[in-house]
Amino acid sequence: MISDRYGRSFSNLRISLTAACNYACTYCVPDGKRLMPARAELEATEVLRAVDLMIATTGIDKVRLTGGEPLLSPKFDDLMPDLMQRPLRDVSLTTNGQLLDRKADLIIDSGLKRINVSLDTLDPERFRAIARSGDLATVQRGIDRMLDAGISVKLNMVPLRSANRDQVLPMLDYALSNGMELRYIELMKMGHLQHDPRFERDFLGMDELLDIIGSRHAFTRTDAPFDSTAVRFAVESGGTFGIIANESEPFCSSCTRLRLSSNGRLYGCLSSAKSHDIRDLLTLDDEQARERLKDVLGMALADKQPLHFTGEVTVMKFIGG
Ligand code: 5AD
Repeated sequence: MISDRYGRSFSNLRISLTAACNYACTYCVPDGKRLMPARAELEATEVLRAVDLMIATTGIDKVRLTGGEPLLSPKFDDLMPDLMQRPLRDVSLTTNGQLLDRKADLIIDSGLKRINVSLDTLDPERFRAIARSGDLATVQRGIDRMLDAGISVKLNMVPLRSANRDQVLPMLDYALSNGMELRYIELMKMGHLQHDPRFERDFLGMDELLDIIGSRHAFTRTDAPFDSTAVRFAVESGGTFGIIANESEPFCSSCTRLRLSSNGRLYGCLSSAKSHDIRDLLTLDDEQARERLKDVLGMALADKQPLHFTGEVTVMKFIGG
């Protein structure tokens, strides 16, 4: 296995199926423009080839499908069932949930066990103000289908001072009462936010989140797995929640994530603009492909930040978080 001087190696692959998204969330897209697929996105067969090579070459045993919005990609329907047949410890999916109800049968039949749904508010109008699209009730219908099928659902919420601070508790109650784990993701200096005063204005960090939650719930901090990005808390009355504290408690030193963009580039770090094209190596025979991939993975690992997320022009919409 390839590892660096901090003992980090790649075990966790996140695949962006498409750069297209049916939302244009204010913190992700500065001007509200519709997000399009990248030029020349990988085919489903190429993505599976990449996964097989990674399994053979690295310690990758976890794969997450992301986007853009992965359920928008026509590849999703082919890929999901095949991916579930690979020798992986864990397969998951991050979606904004808008197409979840429509794709529910396929997802349930594929055998997927868990899913993360991005949801920033329970207020239908505010929902449209943040996402600039979509419909809250449709997302909640999709979530209900997953829960009814016994699929574990986590909710991702980006707390923003100006847009959804008042949703911190309602979102937690919604999650807890439906057996879901809510994870608050501290706003990251991605894309346009890197040099935008709105970052400082809207950032709502762990200390303040815990104050708000503490006004209603008693909770204790619990241990999280070594490579987990979330700080986890157990609520005394039952259930858990997490905070992905990029700023307050950076987790770079134990990061095992590797990202594959929809146009075939590997990213070793969300906080680096460097990427490595692997499209060509996918067509090589197994032995040559693995050798090439090992070199590329060494370079990608060297792109990781030592300790702290410093911000980058790379945009989340494109690389999928
Ligand atoms: N900071 C924090 N989270 C973000 N996401 C998108 N952009 C940002 C950002 N700048 C979240 C989405 C989704 C997950 C993949 O990343 O809301 O839940």
